[in-house]
Formats: sequence, C-alpha cells, structure tokens
Amino acid sequence: MLQPDASRDVFHDAPAFLADYSLRAHHTFGFDVRARVACQIERETQLRAALQAAPFAALPRLVLGGGSNIVFTRDFDGLVLHIALRGRCVVAEDDDAWYVAAAAGENWHQFVCWTLAQRMPGLENLALIPGTVGAAPIQNIGAYGLEMGEYLFSLCALELATGRAFEFSAAACRLGYRDSFFKQEGRNRFVITSVKFRLPKAWTPRAGYADLERELAAQGRDVAPDAQAIFDAVVAVRCAKLPDPEVLGNAGSFFKNPVIEAAQFAALRAREPGLVSYPQADGRVKLAAGWLIDQCGWKGRALGPAAVHERQALVLVNRGGASGGQILALARAIQHDVAERFGVALEPEPVCL
Ligand code: EPU
Repeated sequence: MLQPDASRDVFHDAPAFLADYSLRAHHTFGFDVRARVACQIERETQLRAALQAAPFAALPRLVLGGGSNIVFTRDFDGLVLHIALRGRCVVAEDDDAWYVAAAAGENWHQFVCWTLAQRMPGLENLALIPGTVGAAPIQNIGAYGLEMGEYLFSLCALELATGRAFEFSAAACRLGYRDSFFKQEGRNRFVITSVKFRLPKAWTPRAGYADLERELAAQGRDVAPDAQAIFDAVVAVRCAKLPDPEVLGNAGSFFKNPVIEAAQFAALRAREPGLVSYPQADGRVKLAAGWLIDQCGWKGRALGPAAVHERQALVLVNRGGASGGQILALARAIQHDVAERFGVALEPEPVCL
C-alpha cells in the first residue's frame, strides 16, 4: 500500500509568501509598519512548510496572532507567520469536567461565546479580551478575578528551530501573573498551535471584583448570577472603560500592576493613604498601576498622537498616526513620573519590538 509522503505533503502545502507586507491590520495599535515577508498559516502542514522554506531560513521569525499585545517600533526585517489555524471542539467529558480545545488562530472572545453556547461555563469573566486563543497562554490573560491559567489543561506547540511538535501540560507552561514559560525561557522558540481547557462542572460565579459587582447590581442580576449574567456584566464594564481597538488603537493595559515588598508597601501607604492595593499570597502587595499613573496626572494627557486613555490610565492609545516610538516615549515619561513620586518601577505588559 502506498504511504502518504509527509515531506511531499509539506512541500505541496506551502503558504503564499508575501513580500513587503503591511502589518497595519494585523496589530491593534494600527501603526504603519511592514514585514520583509509574511504568510498566513491556515493548516499545520503550512506551518511546517514555512518553517522549512529555504529562502527564509536565515530570517528572524515573528509569530503573530491577533497582534493585541505587541508594540512595533519599526518595520520587521524577517518572516511573519500569521497564525490563522481554526477549529474548536469538545474533546472529552468525565463526571467532573468538560475538556474543550481550540486551534491557536481562533478569536478568544468567539471561543468564550462558543463555550457558553455549549452550556460549559467558566471562561465568562474573560469575555471581550482581544486576541487569539493561541496567544492567551503566553501572557496568561486575566480579568475580573480570573486568569485563564485556572482552566488551562495543556497546549500543543511546534518548535520553530526544528518543526518538532510538543505537548505542554499546564504546569509546564509555568503561568504567572501576565507571564509564562513562553515569555521567559521559551520566548521566540515555539508556535502554539492549539490549546485545551478543563472546565469543571461544579461551577460557581466569580463576581467579587468591584466593577463587576457594581454592574451586576445595576443590572439587577447580583443574586445568584448565572454565567450569562457575568458575561453580560463583563462586556458592559469593558465597553464602558476600555477603548475598542477598532476605533482607537491600543494594546490593553500597557503596564503590569507592580508587585512590591510588604515593607515598601507599608512606607508608601503611610504617605499615600488612597493607594489601591491587592495583598498577594506570598506577603507581597500588588498595586493598581492605573491609580499610580492617574495620580501623576497622566490620565487623558497626550504627547503628540500618543495618549493616555481618558477612562483607564493604564491604557495607552494611538489617537491617529502615532508610531511605536511615540508610544514608547509616552510610556517612558509615565515610568519616570511614577518612579519619582512613588519609587515604583512600571514594567510594560506588551512585547516591544
Ligand atoms: N484606577 C484609577 N485610575 C485609572 C485606572 C484605574 O484610579 O485611570 C483604579 C481603579 O479605580 C481601581 C484600580 O485602579 O481601583 C484598578 O483598576 P481596574 O479595575 O480598571 O483594573 P486594572 O488593575 O487597571 C487589570 C488588568 C486588566 C483587566 C482589569 C479587570 C492588568 C495589568 N490589567 O487592570 O487587564 O481587564 O484588571 O480585571 O493586570 C490587560 O491586561 O490588557 C487588561 C486590560
């Protein structure tokens, strides 16, 4: 019997390589930057072919999903792999949980909607987060009292250098606050191709986050809210506070909320009684960076076309025609003022290229 020839398959499934490709529509800041070459990956065989393509072997590679957590400061002189792998399914069920999987190129919010339509609650607090399923574990997306890591079961990835496939357990992903193996030692080494979640059947609402509590009460749905009520409230809060990247270019929170030692916190608190803080399990304290920036008077202020959002000081926006360099200049000015007034260093959340 004839066996399919894997190398032929790969050869025949090469994606189209487009030279001098505009990345404007492929990242949420909307800067006018270009890639030396780019290709769209719709099947895993195309990904393997792209990784093996001899003319581009020596080029730096950039894996791009929804582009919602990246700041381009210049053109990318390399090969951009735009991950458009699609598909989602319920892979298994046991007495305690459902297991659902999605390909890396699936839109995150659509995936959340799909799990709820299957009557599998759990991800509703993470509604409306921009980006793709494949990008979600890299920075362990989180909002309104939940991080995706709580429900991550495993993920599949290809190693860029070798094209070898790996399965990572949730523990191997080493997720932290907006952090993972893929942002540290694994940085630029893997392309995530699919992600699997375990959604426990014993669901309880996660409605303790102040903004969420307020919104549920305003909607009259604060008594035993179901997953749909939480979803609706999250969507309402996000729409009220966070700019839509389709309208105003941005990458969500531009800085991580800084975590400081208990002693530094105590000293700071004595000076700044209004400080918004969240105690951590290890005794340290997380501060609301948005509050620190707001107190420095930056909310709504601009440096040229790069501005601080009027309703959330943690979000930097492109008011039109800004460059990555201008956004970074604004970020540096904010970091300077926050360090000077509070003695706290702010670390950018998005990847800066
Ligand atoms: N605050 C201000 N002024 C501001 C912004 C915030 O005083 O301009 C105060 C708020 O009043 C509140 C506190 O700071 O007391 C926290 O603000 P908020 O609830 O808006 O949340 P955040 O800590 O600024 C984080 C995430 C968001 C996520 C929200 C909701 C980070 C870096 N950001 O923001 O995630 O949506 O909580 O859970 O952890 C993202 O990562 O891109 C992102 C948007």
